[in-house]
Amino acid sequence: MTDAATEAAWTALKAAADPVARIVDQFAADPERLSRMSVEAAGLYLDLSKQSWTRAGFDAALALARVRQVEARRAHLFGGAAVNLTEGRAVLHPALRAAPGADYHALGEPVSAEVDAVRADMAAYAEAVRSGAETGGTGKAFKALVHVGIGGSDLGPRVVWDALRPLSPTVDLRFVANIDPRDMAEALTGLDPETTLVVVVSKTFTTQETLANADAAKAWLAAALTPEQLRKHFIGVTAAPDKAGAFGCGRTFAFRDWVGGRYSLWSAVSLSCAIGLGWDAFEAFLGGARAMDQHFVDAPLEKNAPVLLALAQVFNVDGLGRHARTVAPYAHALRRLPSFLQQLEMESNGKRVHRDGSPVSHGTCPVVFGEPGTNGQHAFFQQIHQGPETVPAEFVIVAKTHGNETESPLWANALAQGQALMLGKTTEAARAELLASGSGDAEADRLQTHKTFPGNRPSTAIVMDRLTPATLGALIALYEHKTFVEGVIWDVNSFDQWGVELGKVLAKAILKDVAAGGPSDELDPSTAALMTRLLG
Ligand code: F6P
Repeated sequence: MTDAATEAAWTALKAAADPVARIVDQFAADPERLSRMSVEAAGLYLDLSKQSWTRAGFDAALALARVRQVEARRAHLFGGAAVNLTEGRAVLHPALRAAPGADYHALGEPVSAEVDAVRADMAAYAEAVRSGAETGGTGKAFKALVHVGIGGSDLGPRVVWDALRPLSPTVDLRFVANIDPRDMAEALTGLDPETTLVVVVSKTFTTQETLANADAAKAWLAAALTPEQLRKHFIGVTAAPDKAGAFGCGRTFAFRDWVGGRYSLWSAVSLSCAIGLGWDAFEAFLGGARAMDQHFVDAPLEKNAPVLLALAQVFNVDGLGRHARTVAPYAHALRRLPSFLQQLEMESNGKRVHRDGSPVSHGTCPVVFGEPGTNGQHAFFQQIHQGPETVPAEFVIVAKTHGNETESPLWANALAQGQALMLGKTTEAARAELLASGSGDAEADRLQTHKTFPGNRPSTAIVMDRLTPATLGALIALYEHKTFVEGVIWDVNSFDQWGVELGKVLAKAILKDVAAGGPSDELDPSTAALMTRLLG
């Protein structure tokens, strides 16, 4: 249920959402638009002035954030209250990247000392593996790591590794997530069990894909090592250390239940990256996120990067009925960012009931998708420019992606895409171009509408000079806090994920039928026929 003040704020936002107002005209209407709608934070520059909101729309969105008490709810999160309502848990990923000696509490329990202790263990272990002081069971240094995990136990570390890895890393880090044995087979190809460390990452240590892959990796190690030797090659990262120990992990790095899976990359979940990158890089990564935390806590709402990014999305979804957003990182090293954001945003806010269990009265998370630029321009940008639906775009732009030169051929495309989406091309202009290029009237009549761009399509630019551990940390923390603010405004629980459970249960029932030799009578005809066909 929503209160009267909230309803009034929603009504005002929708009234201020004018789908006809042309974005480009707003710059003249509000000469302060660019400065009003851009913000610097923790090494990032955000430009939201190409979004669809007029000055009135922008103000109405900020008013909604105030009515939704974003600042108070932010304090609850940082204060360790049970903001994950349905699981009765605190949500304290900021505590994982706090400076040593911080004083976070989860449901009243002090947790920072434990965070510092695990971080110290991680640092010592990472450096020992890198130096060769920590060896495998036969005394050889580790040359390869296999990170086994899925969802939040995989996507964050993959982004970090792809974003920050050197061209010739000293450690060959490979990731395995899918239960498809092809995934593990590809990862193990060319590796030597004696010099390979397997890191099994699972918050619950019950996820079927991860347990199956951990079994496969253990069998691969066991073919070359004794059980005692194997324990040095097989470590666990989990909130269930007993389960990891029972599974045969030689040692375990723990984190707590107040760390959400999709918010866990700041913990030992990223141990493989800390080993691969070195501890100084991982500390700098934590430091960048900490800087964004500080900005999020200190900055006024109207100059708060996560808040403005959230409000732009709420304005598009609820004000203008736009239920998709594309994210295009203009940096090859950020190619995994869209996949990471799909889980972060859609698993957090892809909900249909409010925190009190009542049906949502407004929109919630749109479909988030994307590919790195410029690749996406040659794939789905046709629809972003000329499709019937307006799909807001977000460009994450890195000036210097490889060396010390600014990569203008890359970022010029990002700027051009934002400009083209905003300006479009009128039919008159398309016609004039056709005639100027030698088309006759009949040809121009035939082609002009095909070459028309509606324009007035919104985008946000997020810009950084270089992709460093610090700017990557700030970027990911920016999106975490944006996701939180959206959840506050939509009044959903951003920190549970009951929607993933039913499929898991039904998969187990299907496997029971498979073990019994074929579909049971209760199975619907479609699923039964598919199973029969797939059983061959
Ligand atoms: O099923 C969804 C999910 O629970 C995600 O929320 C989580 O990140 C992923 O599976 C992996 O879970 P775990 O880390 O417990 O293996």
